[in-house]
Amino acid sequence: MNTVQGSDGFREAVLAGLSVRPRAIPCKYLYDAEGSALFDRITELDEYYPTRTEIALLAASGGAIAERVGPGARVVEFGCGSMRKTRLLLAALSGPSAYVAIDVAREPLLLGARRMAALFPDVAVVPLVADFTRPLALPPDAMGGDGPVLGFFPGSTIGNMRPDEARAFLRRAGRVLGPGGRMLVGVDLIKDPRLLDAAYDDAQGVTAAFIRNLLVRANRELGADFDPATFDHRAWWNAREGRVEIHLVAGRRQRVEIAGHRFAFRRGDVIHVEDCYKYSPEQFCWLARLGGFESEAVWIDPDCLFSLHLLVSTGC
Ligand SMILES: C[S@@+](CC[C@H](N)C(=O)[O-])C[C@H]1O[C@@H](n2cnc3c(N)ncnc32)[C@H](O)[C@@H]1O
Repeated sequence: MNTVQGSDGFREAVLAGLSVRPRAIPCKYLYDAEGSALFDRITELDEYYPTRTEIALLAASGGAIAERVGPGARVVEFGCGSMRKTRLLLAALSGPSAYVAIDVAREPLLLGARRMAALFPDVAVVPLVADFTRPLALPPDAMGGDGPVLGFFPGSTIGNMRPDEARAFLRRAGRVLGPGGRMLVGVDLIKDPRLLDAAYDDAQGVTAAFIRNLLVRANRELGADFDPATFDHRAWWNAREGRVEIHLVAGRRQRVEIAGHRFAFRRGDVIHVEDCYKYSPEQFCWLARLGGFESEAVWIDPDCLFSLHLLVSTGC
């Protein structure tokens, strides 16, 4: 029996998450190096409108954002991934001075930070491997200078949190950014469920591979013996809760051994993997207020698919 120790609490989260009902594993564990690469492939899919729409919004509103933020900005990004959108933001801002890139996925983060440092030689780039669902402290010298502070949280990653978690996250982020600090947040909008269902269950099966990678990761890091192919990826819009729910569903009866623990699955048993909450602009402004931010501006694409919110911390 292989009992390889998982990292970053993955082992504990898998064992605890499969021992309770409903079974659930936090979505942050989707992002190992393989998961991050699969996510980047998702962002290129026809069905996945959020990335291209948010990029177009950023391109169109960059000048207005730069004007409001002012010169010499110090940018802190939460869950930066490939930093594709960050490149647009830093290029639009007037002489940004620092960029702190936060992510749980270590290797993609370090690679991305090296690329950013080469692209923006006048910006102090600081990668930080950290979990933004926990209390966060920036390295003391990361935010040198006295330029305005701008948090950046694109990709509707805030939608992966329940509303109460999103509120708590905004409060923590507000403490990191300080009173008067701004936050630019990408938020997916409520829309035709057919668009949502397709975005989270694409024809090529890339999203399914991304979600199943959680089991592949458990096999690799924890010595588990999941047969990932026997778990179906299922995503659907739950209108009552205002979220897309993503589960892995056992396609047959099976026993799985993980780090010396046994788990029985009947056909149809589910593991909850991720929620993606969608908000109207008004709902999100209300949530931001509960999280200690006032809305300063909102940009929405012509098809009303995605929104970009510029918030300012009230410090209370
Ligand atoms: C939905 S992707 C968005 C990536 C990128 N910001 C974009 O807009 O395309 C979420 C990103 O947040 C990171 N992430 C997820 N949960 C995290 C957590 N709890 N703490 C830090 N990073 C996290 C993932 O590794 C991934 O890079």
